[in-house]
Amino acid sequence: MLPLFDTPPSPHKPQNPELDRKSSFGSLKPYLPRTWLIFFVLFLQIILLLIARNYHISTAVIIPQHLPEVAAITAVDGGDTECPSGKVFVYNLPHFFNTELLENCHELNPWGSRCDTYSNDGLGRPATKLAGVIPESLTGAWYWTDQFASEIIYHNRMLNYRCRTLDPESATAYYIPLYAGLAVGKYLWTNNYTAEDRDLHCHTMLKWVHDQPYWKKSNGWDHFITMGRITWDFRRSKDDDWGSRCIYLPGMRNITRLLIERNSWDYFDVGVPYPTGFHPTSPSDVETWQEFVRTRTRTTLFCFAGATRGLIKNDFRGLLLNQCYNSSGSCRVVDCGGSKCSNGTSLILESFLGSDFCLQPRGDSFTRRSIFDCMIAGSIPVFFWNRTAYSQYEWFLPGQPESYSVYIDKNDVLNGKSIKGVLESFGKDEVRKMREKVIQYIPRIVYAKPHQGLKGMKDAFDLAVEGVLNRIKDQEREGFKW
Ligand SMILES: *[C@@H]1O[C@H](CO)[C@@H](O)[C@H](O)[C@H]1NC(C)=O
Ligand SMILES: *[C@@H]1O[C@H](CO)[C@@H](O)[C@H](O)[C@H]1NC(C)=O
Ligand SMILES: *[C@@H]1O[C@H](CO)[C@@H](O)[C@H](O)[C@H]1NC(C)=O
Ligand SMILES: *[C@@H]1O[C@H](CO)[C@@H](O)[C@H](O)[C@H]1NC(C)=O
Ligand SMILES: *[C@@H]1O[C@H](CO)[C@@H](O)[C@H](O)[C@H]1NC(C)=O
Repeated sequence: MLPLFDTPPSPHKPQNPELDRKSSFGSLKPYLPRTWLIFFVLFLQIILLLIARNYHISTAVIIPQHLPEVAAITAVDGGDTECPSGKVFVYNLPHFFNTELLENCHELNPWGSRCDTYSNDGLGRPATKLAGVIPESLTGAWYWTDQFASEIIYHNRMLNYRCRTLDPESATAYYIPLYAGLAVGKYLWTNNYTAEDRDLHCHTMLKWVHDQPYWKKSNGWDHFITMGRITWDFRRSKDDDWGSRCIYLPGMRNITRLLIERNSWDYFDVGVPYPTGFHPTSPSDVETWQEFVRTRTRTTLFCFAGATRGLIKNDFRGLLLNQCYNSSGSCRVVDCGGSKCSNGTSLILESFLGSDFCLQPRGDSFTRRSIFDCMIAGSIPVFFWNRTAYSQYEWFLPGQPESYSVYIDKNDVLNGKSIKGVLESFGKDEVRKMREKVIQYIPRIVYAKPHQGLKGMKDAFDLAVEGVLNRIKDQEREGFKW
C-alpha cells in the first residue's frame, strides 16, 4: 500500500496527474449575523464620538482600546486589504459529517472512549503533569493532544478565521468540514464492517457537495478539506484492505486535502504539521517558550523515542536503537510502547529538551508526530528518508534542509555508519545555528489555542490556509487545470 521509492516529488503541477456548519455544537461558535455587526460598529463609533466630545483628555486612552476590536470585526466582511489572497466560505454541512461523530466519541474506536482525547475543542486533556518541566506561565498552554485531532482543530479555527466570509459568492475557497479521519477510525481495527461502511461519510459528503451551486464554479478546484490521518488511510484499493477509499472516489479528484502525511506524488495532497501538545494563547507564550528551549542545558548528544519492544533486529528502528544503547552517555532512549508517550508522561518532552539531536526514522509510514515534538523542544531532527519531512511540509519548514536538520542516508546506516560519529562532527557553533533555525520556525508548526489564532503571529493553521488560497490563484493560469 505504501509506495516503496523515496524520490523527491514534483512541487507543482505533476507530469502524470493520474498517478494516482456552521453548527449548533457548543464550541464551534457561529459568527454574529452581518446586520448585527453593522449596528455594533455604528454603536461603537457613536459611543467613541460621545466619549471623545465629553472627555477630551481621556480620548487617547480609550480609542486604542477599542480600535482593534473594530478592525477585527470589519475584517470579517469588508477590508480586502486584510485578506489579499481571498476569503474562505465554510460549508454548513449536516452534523452527521462532523459534530455528531464527536458527540458519539465513546464509539470512535473499538477499545474505549475517545471523549477525553478530543475534549477541549480537540486539544484533549490539560497536560498538568508537565508542571515543573515547563515554565510555570505556560502550564495552561500544554495539552495531551491526539495526533489525529487536526480536523477538529482546523474546523474550530476556520469558523473564526479572520478571512472567513459568510457570502459564498465572494469566496475564493470553500472549506468542507468533514471529519474523515474520525469517520474511518473505528473501522480500521475490525474487519466485520463492509467497504460501504468505511466509505459512507466521504461518499455522502461528495454527493452533498457536488449538489451545491459553488462546486460548478471551478469543478471543485477551489474546495478543500482537512483529513486528520495519514493519506494512506484513505487510499484503499481493494474492498478488504485497510482504510477508506475516500481519496480514490472520483468526486474527490479536484479537492485539496490537508493531511498530516501526504502522498508526495499527488498535487492535491498537502502535508500539514501534526498537532503537538503545545497550544500557545499569545505571541508572548511563543516567545517565552522559544527563550526557554534556547537556554536549556542539553546533556546528551542525541535521543531516540519510539516503541522499543518487539523491534526485530533488522528493522531500521532496531538498528538505531542498538546504536543508541551502544553510545551510552551520548544517546538517550525513550520507550514509547503502547500509548506511554501520548498519555501523561513528561519523559519524552524532557529527553527532547535535554538533547541536541533527535533521530526521526520512518515508522509504519514516512512521517511521525515525533518530528514536531522534537523541533518544538528545540532539538535538531535527524532524518533518514527525504519523505519524512523535506517533501512533506514545504510550507512550514525551512527550504534548506541542512539549515535545520541532519540527513543521513538510510543505506549508510544499514552499512554500519555511526550516527554518533556524524553528529559529533558538527561544531558547537554549527549546532547552535541549526538549533536557532529550528526555534525560529516554532510558531509555524504549532496550532494556537484561541480559535481566532494569535494576534500578529502566523501559526500552522494560518500558513496552511494562506497556502491553499495562494494555490487557487496559481490555478487560474491558462491551462493549469487538467
Ligand atoms: C464488529 O466487532 C466489534 C468488536 O469486535 C463489535 O463491537 C461491533 O459491534 C461489530 N460490528 C458489527 C457491525 O458487527
Ligand atoms: C476536475 O477538474 C477537471 C478540469 O477542470 C474537470 O474536467 C473534471 O470534471 C473535474 N472533476 C470533478 C469530479 O468534478
Ligand atoms: C558498539 O560499538 C563498538 C564500537 O563502535 C562496536 O565495536 C560494537 O560491536 C558495538 N556493539 C554493538 C552491540 O553494536
Ligand atoms: C490516560 O490517562 C487517563 C487519565 O489519567 C487515564 O484515565 C487513562 O486510563 C490513560 N490511558 C492509558 C492508555 O494509559
Ligand atoms: C535527500 O535529501 C538530501 C538532503 O537534501 C539530498 O542530499 C539527497 O540527494 C536526497 N536523496 C534522494 C534519494 O532524493
